[in-house]
Amino acid sequence: MPHLPNSHATVDLAFSLHPYTNLAVHEDRGPFVITRGEGIYVYDDLENKYIEGLSGLWCTGLGYSEKRLVNAAMTQMNQLPFSHSFAHRATVPVIELSEKLINIAPGNLSKVYLVNSGSEAVDTAIKMVWYYHNAIGKPEKKKIISRKRGYHGVTVAAGSLTALPYAQDDWDLPINRILHTETPCYYRYGESGETEEAFATRLADILDQQITNEDPDTVAAFIAEPVMGAGGVMTPPKTYFEKIQKVLKKYNILLIADEVICGFGRTGNMWGSDTYGIKPDLLTCAKQMSSAYFPIGAVMLSEPIYQSFVENSRKLGVFGTGNTYGGHPVAAAVALETLKIYEDDDILGHLVNISGHFQKRLAELSKHKLVGEARGVGLIGGLELVANKKTRKQFPEASKASVTATEKILGQNLILRPLPGDVIGICPPLIITEQEIDDIFDRTIRGLDEAEVALR
Ligand SMILES: Cc1ncc(COP(=O)(O)O)c(C=O)c1O
Repeated sequence: MPHLPNSHATVDLAFSLHPYTNLAVHEDRGPFVITRGEGIYVYDDLENKYIEGLSGLWCTGLGYSEKRLVNAAMTQMNQLPFSHSFAHRATVPVIELSEKLINIAPGNLSKVYLVNSGSEAVDTAIKMVWYYHNAIGKPEKKKIISRKRGYHGVTVAAGSLTALPYAQDDWDLPINRILHTETPCYYRYGESGETEEAFATRLADILDQQITNEDPDTVAAFIAEPVMGAGGVMTPPKTYFEKIQKVLKKYNILLIADEVICGFGRTGNMWGSDTYGIKPDLLTCAKQMSSAYFPIGAVMLSEPIYQSFVENSRKLGVFGTGNTYGGHPVAAAVALETLKIYEDDDILGHLVNISGHFQKRLAELSKHKLVGEARGVGLIGGLELVANKKTRKQFPEASKASVTATEKILGQNLILRPLPGDVIGICPPLIITEQEIDDIFDRTIRGLDEAEVALR
């Protein structure tokens, strides 16, 4: 990463506390200042141009210069910069956005509740699961299960579901009533001789056993990303969600699909739930919902859950939750325009045309000496780095293989992200062209070649 001994760097070091950053290293290195964007590219403050190969944080689906979104924000700011949704109030963009979301939602979701981020969506979904079970007279049914290496955000409850040591160590997480089950990554956790389907059966059996051990009447919900993103880009093994959903149904356990990364086309369909046959009771989304031009997230819920809330309001007098900025009219206007662009520009059709090429170039990387597995779906991919391709042995933690590799790749002016398990995440803007995809993979190969020399 470039060291920038300029005034921005000095002021940053003096005043900014950076999330998900090694603060000790930051003191030496200073910030990587991004100043502007254009298409799939961003520029730093020395005017170096980079491909944003992770769409910022898996979020800028429409790239960095979509004028329709700028105009939607400006128009709404001029007309009504703020109003809220408390106590029967409503705004036109929130009404229209809610209708549009339910029209494209998977399964039988019928209501939308707007928030400001993915973590807030997940936290709210947890609250709703607890509230629902109290409302229907099952106050013991409260435990929530997530998967090891699942990523669901950082707030106290969402951070408890994020089963990654870096997000929990020394934060006193997880809170109680949270359980973790096995990670559905066949390459890393499948046993020798086990088929993908048998691996999925084994994980479903383990989940069933865990639920039985806990007492099914105390288990409320299971949360899953259709494709596990920040924990290491892990696509589910064949038949996984079919088998998991069978177990959940057996014990009346709700399913929360966390679509914060997968939603809005990332896996090649509108939702990861569509790609993997998931029928969620609740769905959380954010990120590409506004192409990240404005902070917004949502929880969508099924009619039976909503009806229990209505009944509870009769009893308690109010649905007792709300965020000042939940359903911010400017954020809603930007999200609404984003969904219209996805439709007008036929983003799903574009993905059909280009994701085959993306997956082909990704798969070719499995031949690289550093890559154990190249996996992905739609326009998301992960490269799991290994020291030994045959044994799948990983590099010692101290060699920081994926960090080294992404720094070498950054030297090729391509931004990718190191993830747990020595995986490199690739998740470019949805508007990318075939030629730009080639550019990403050519640069990745050059970076990996350099990393190999550095690591051996
Ligand atoms: C699946 C998933 N859920 C929740 C979150 C949290 O979203 P946010 O960072 O907007 O709070 C993320 C963030 O990457 C995510 O990937």
